[in-house]
Amino acid sequence: MNSACRITLFFLAILAGSHLFLAGSPATAQSGTRVIRRPHYELLWGWLAQSQYRNWKGPNGQPAEFQPGEGPHAALVKTYVNDHAAGDAKNLSRGSVLVTENYSAEKRLLSVTVMQRAPGFDPPQGDWYYAQYLPQGRIAADVVGRNTEPAAGKVSSCIDCHRKAGGGDYAYFNDPPVLNTSP
Ligand code: HEC
Repeated sequence: MNSACRITLFFLAILAGSHLFLAGSPATAQSGTRVIRRPHYELLWGWLAQSQYRNWKGPNGQPAEFQPGEGPHAALVKTYVNDHAAGDAKNLSRGSVLVTENYSAEKRLLSVTVMQRAPGFDPPQGDWYYAQYLPQGRIAADVVGRNTEPAAGKVSSCIDCHRKAGGGDYAYFNDPPVLNTSP
């Protein structure tokens, strides 16, 4: 089997499974076979497109709607929760995928931020894989010190803020509402 075929089969295997796995492509190359590793964020974007995430429900079980964004997320956001996460909002177990689209005040799509729960990926920090994409699916750039890296994986800016979410699960959408008006 040539490597392109092998990768295609592997990709189909991911799409066929109900869960995503954190891997690029098979690590076991036969000698003389060059295995091209596709980064996980590319597989994740492909899976999101295949899953038609825009048909997923919003955080409250209703169709996703524009909401005022908080933190760095943008003026307006739309959050989508996959069926697995919606059915297990308390635990957000393996298979949970959360997507927030970030829009300007004029409703122009600026970026797509994604969280995928992946046990074993980052145990001390809630086991979330983070990614930020540009509107057409290219990965955004994350400036780390003097370097620019893909905004994917253990993205410290995402983690540092999401660690403040209620319940210690790094997710905000399932937190109970907070009364923040004074008498
Ligand atoms: C300074 C704080 C902050 C940073 C940094 C941040 N977020 Fe968020 N994020 C939030 C808040 C608050 C919400 C819920 C409200 C909203 O959607 O605006 C949220 C919501 C989300 C959601 C919907 C699920 C949920 O937790 O409710 C996803 C997915 C998400 N963020 C991904 C990311 C990614 C990926 C990054 C890094 C590229 C990131 N966030 C950086 C504060 C932050």
